[in-house]
Amino acid sequence: MERTSERAREVDAAMADIRAIEERDGVTRESIAAIRARLLQLAARTDLFTPEDFPPPGEGDARNSCLYRLHEDEQHRFALYANSTSGKRSSPPHNHTTWAVIVGVSGGDELNRFYDRTDDGGVREKGQAVVRAGTGVAFMPDDIHSIHIEAPVLNFHLYGLGLEQLTRREYYKPAEHAWSVFPPHSDIREARPGRS
Ligand SMILES: [Fe+2]
Repeated sequence: MERTSERAREVDAAMADIRAIEERDGVTRESIAAIRARLLQLAARTDLFTPEDFPPPGEGDARNSCLYRLHEDEQHRFALYANSTSGKRSSPPHNHTTWAVIVGVSGGDELNRFYDRTDDGGVREKGQAVVRAGTGVAFMPDDIHSIHIEAPVLNFHLYGLGLEQLTRREYYKPAEHAWSVFPPHSDIREARPGRS
């Protein structure tokens, strides 16, 4: 129990600092980099965020990845999730419509590919970064990325607004050379003490 309350305290402290960064500086490349740095400090507490605390879906589950809600305020702002994946997983190129930060906690690599939109309505890759323990990426609301995971991984996903509220996230379908809209995320597991 003591570890659970310490985890909640550390989450609350990090999120208070992150809220203060956004209030002071707004949403800019610099402020989301500062948010990423603060979230990396939280992720360094691997004693409080273990794969045993946040297990991936079991064998036979339709998904091999799940999200645990660690923090979200009353307005669904500052939504922090632990993302636990059991193995191979990829996403198509997509935006978030709110700022987003991903940092590694433990496990394997999460390759992030970054894209620009092209004039003909497609995407062009412009760079990559690997998220693993001690590293992270930060995105402005219109930035486009895809993720590629090969081995079990635990990381943090932090969004300016909760995933269940994001109804206009676009993703690119290369086979059709077309964009579509993700349905709002569901099946998020509650991990805040005292909630269910
Ligand atoms: Fe994303």
